[in-house]
Amino acid sequence: MNLTLKIWRQLNSESKGSMVKYSVSDVSPDMSFLEMMDFLNNQLINKGEDPVAFDHDCREGICGMCSMFINGEAHGPDRLVTTCQLHMRKFKDGETITIEPFRANAFPVIKDLVVDRSAFDRVQQAGGFVSVNTSGNTQDANSIPIEKYDADRAFDAATCIGCGACVASCKNASAMLFVSAKVSQYSLLPQGKVEATDRVRSMVKQMDQEGFGNCTNTGACEVECPKGISLENIARMNREYLSTLLKS
Ligand code: SF4
Ligand code: FES
Repeated sequence: MNLTLKIWRQLNSESKGSMVKYSVSDVSPDMSFLEMMDFLNNQLINKGEDPVAFDHDCREGICGMCSMFINGEAHGPDRLVTTCQLHMRKFKDGETITIEPFRANAFPVIKDLVVDRSAFDRVQQAGGFVSVNTSGNTQDANSIPIEKYDADRAFDAATCIGCGACVASCKNASAMLFVSAKVSQYSLLPQGKVEATDRVRSMVKQMDQEGFGNCTNTGACEVECPKGISLENIARMNREYLSTLLKS
């Protein structure tokens, strides 16, 4: 495949970026999108040019690092995959592909396609955990029976990899899908109920402080989420948050 790539280049967080055009030839349809980017970078390095900076770690859909906005969609045109799981056969020979970083005020660009998603870490640190006694006499979690329906919903929520595609896809740059997944993975389980009130309050407060926008139920986040996190998590978090307000 021969392709034209229009890629966002930005030296650092202070500089003004711009789209730069590159041509790549002899791309295999079986390459992953990141392998194609490696291929481009090898060519740039051989020419003595600065390679394109992009985030990646696991390259198997687990770490959530590969935050690219491809042809106007977070993680590209395929559904339920991350950029590292996207294959070049999803594109046509001769196509022009536009590649940008995930854009949101709360995700400032560090360089080229790399953004700072530490806002998500701070939301997690605000309450995305359960406090357990680790003194050696911790109760085995499996000794508490949990309804299959609840266990499945909690597991579905826990598959969120914190990639940020939901924020990048939302016209308001809202983080509600991410935060609601992190709240829901505990709120359906008995272990999560003890700190439920503090958790939802603290995480929502931190989310607002980080500058994410409000949710207006457009649903773009659910469509672009590589893990299929459902909007029902947002409804669950809203109910939980409302009930904490009624209690106070
Ligand atoms: S909810 Fe989906 S899109 Fe958002 S961070 Fe989690 S996995 Fe990524
Ligand atoms: S590199 Fe880990 S999810 Fe893509």
